[in-house]
Amino acid sequence: MVKLAGKAVADKIYSAVDNTVEQLRLQDIIPCLAIVMVGHDPASMLYVAAKEKATAQHGIKSLVVRLSADCSMSELLATIEALNNDDDVHGLLCQAPLPVHLSFTQVIKAIAPHKDVDGFHPLNVGCLAWGVPALLPCTPQGVLALLQHYEIPLAGKNVLIIGRSMIVGTPLSVLLSRSGVDATVTLAHSKSTNLAGLCARADVIISAVGQPEIIKAAWLASHTVVIDVGTNPIPDITKASGVRFVGDLDPAAHTVCAAYSPVPGGVGLLTVAFLLKNTCDAALRIYQ
Ligand code: GUN
Repeated sequence: MVKLAGKAVADKIYSAVDNTVEQLRLQDIIPCLAIVMVGHDPASMLYVAAKEKATAQHGIKSLVVRLSADCSMSELLATIEALNNDDDVHGLLCQAPLPVHLSFTQVIKAIAPHKDVDGFHPLNVGCLAWGVPALLPCTPQGVLALLQHYEIPLAGKNVLIIGRSMIVGTPLSVLLSRSGVDATVTLAHSKSTNLAGLCARADVIISAVGQPEIIKAAWLASHTVVIDVGTNPIPDITKASGVRFVGDLDPAAHTVCAAYSPVPGGVGLLTVAFLLKNTCDAALRIYQ
């Protein structure tokens, strides 16, 4: 079984990011990513810290706006509006999940589409569906880049995506079934039956379920490639943060399938790389 590490792919993306940052610097522009973080969800705090660290390493400014867990919807929308109107901010995202009294959908609709580096705004989702250039969601871009880097055949192959979220599964199903990629896509979800059977006939499985180690070795064929998008925090007292991340794939399956992406060290590295790339693209589009 081949380990599909994300590092080499991320390095390629970061090298393109570094070139764009330099190109922008020559025009006296420093790309800036604003992140709105509401409350203290432990996993979100780690993700936001990783985003801040990566931006700093690649000459991109970050501006993290922290709101308390009990902030109101109007306070949150006013924050988004101010960042939309700030010409020094090129990319803008609100870290999910939000506390239950707040609507993530409303927040996404309020973000200016040309700053929507998550690619979640309905306009960007529509462009994705039409195949029109737009800011595309980061994790789906990362999955596709990983598959292409390792030259995993996709045309005509049975690709099973597990999980229909707007962040990963749904946009990925569109990207993979596009002309030029040409996969035959099955999008499984919480109401799908016989997941084991669906897995058994898949050439490629992309799991974005978010449940630790639920994809079992017995479900996989020896030619199957598994891309594990799961980043499930589990308690670990040996870590300073108190958590470590495991994937959706049972580690016992690593020796059964043809190839798998590790967690951590797989798709997760690419999500942040594409976030920086989208931030640069957003800065380029605004100023060109
Ligand atoms: N929470 C988990 N993944 C993501 C992501 O890609 N974007 C945002 N905004 N929040 C998240």
